[in-house]
Amino acid sequence: MSVTPLEALPLETLRRRSSTKWRTHPHDVLPMFVAETDFPLAEPIREALAEAVAIGDTGYTPPDPGLRDVFAAFAARRYGWEVDPARVDWTGDVMMAVVEVLRGVIAPGDEVVVTPPVYPPFFFCVEEAGGVPRSVPLAATGAGWSLDLAGIEAALAAGARAVLLCNPHNPTGTVHSRETLARLAAIARRYGAVVVSDEIHAPLAQPGTGFTPFLAAGEDAAEVGYAITSSSKAFNLAGLKCALIVTAAAHTTRVVRGLPREVEWRTGLLGAIATRAAFAPASDAWLDALLARLDENRHLLAALLTEHLPEARFVVPDAGFLGWIDLSAYGWGDDPAEAVLHGARVALQRGPDFGAGGLGHARINFGCGPDVLREAVARIGALARA
Ligand SMILES: Cc1ncc(COP(=O)(O)O)c(C=O)c1O
Repeated sequence: MSVTPLEALPLETLRRRSSTKWRTHPHDVLPMFVAETDFPLAEPIREALAEAVAIGDTGYTPPDPGLRDVFAAFAARRYGWEVDPARVDWTGDVMMAVVEVLRGVIAPGDEVVVTPPVYPPFFFCVEEAGGVPRSVPLAATGAGWSLDLAGIEAALAAGARAVLLCNPHNPTGTVHSRETLARLAAIARRYGAVVVSDEIHAPLAQPGTGFTPFLAAGEDAAEVGYAITSSSKAFNLAGLKCALIVTAAAHTTRVVRGLPREVEWRTGLLGAIATRAAFAPASDAWLDALLARLDENRHLLAALLTEHLPEARFVVPDAGFLGWIDLSAYGWGDDPAEAVLHGARVALQRGPDFGAGGLGHARINFGCGPDVLREAVARIGALARA
């Protein structure tokens, strides 16, 4: 059965939004940088939030906000992953969870493996947790990217205590194979290290790409892993502050329960209410329509680049709404986003901030309507020809 792709809101409506995407640059700039999307909220979320606002339900998040069973059911339906609801915990957002879990498992000064190019806050959050980021860049396979397992093993053998995994990966949109994840888990277990798996983009893995939640990658993964996820990327709820921490073994659950009580208290009540609605079956049709839109857009982006920026290098992502583009052929220096912002009035995310492999690159957000994507790439193409 084919699904009708979700329609984005019109630009004049989006420009009334007050979020970072719409209030960082003047209106003549097309904002394709921060990871917010341009779609109307899923109806079940809108209804749940409207009801909460109508009755002033804006206090503290209760001891059991009803997230456990709804997430376990979502994981079973969408990924075939069996989650023990009793091992689901929550906090304000994914990066808070990353910091607090790392703080719980490393000692100050320990190295934590990150795999650049990667979401820039990974570097700062390792530092916030008292760790030292140790870069083991992704390996280019020709057809995409993969984890450099030998490099990660060498880093763990040299003393790194944890791996901060991005699954699926931001900015490349790579879905790591089950086998890769299982091997990573085995390596981590051998060295007594942990894997913290950021799975915020998981609901946006395209069907057929073989997405595997890290904790579902076998017995070793269940022993060494902490999965952190959220409804916030897929359903555009980042401002509401709710993320989930999932574990699969008694000792890892104990670490999460041993974190300061404030970690749980930071969960936003509207975030918990919206997340319950997002992960409920009633929102599946909306999510499928979003995936259909993003599937069209990722291929549209590839076609637009071929047409307007034929020297750009781009691999169609397996997941999400972010595209990683090598623009180094255009002579725009290490940070093409700078030239593109000033010369084409399109705001991209700066490549160098993603660490090793980021020079000459930029990240584009294609979680928008196709017309906006067409306009953005055409503008950048015109700059390239100027
Ligand atoms: C991989 C990744 N992790 C975390 C975040 C931020 O999540 P949060 O706002 O829940 O901290 C993002 C945002 O784009 C992301 O791409």
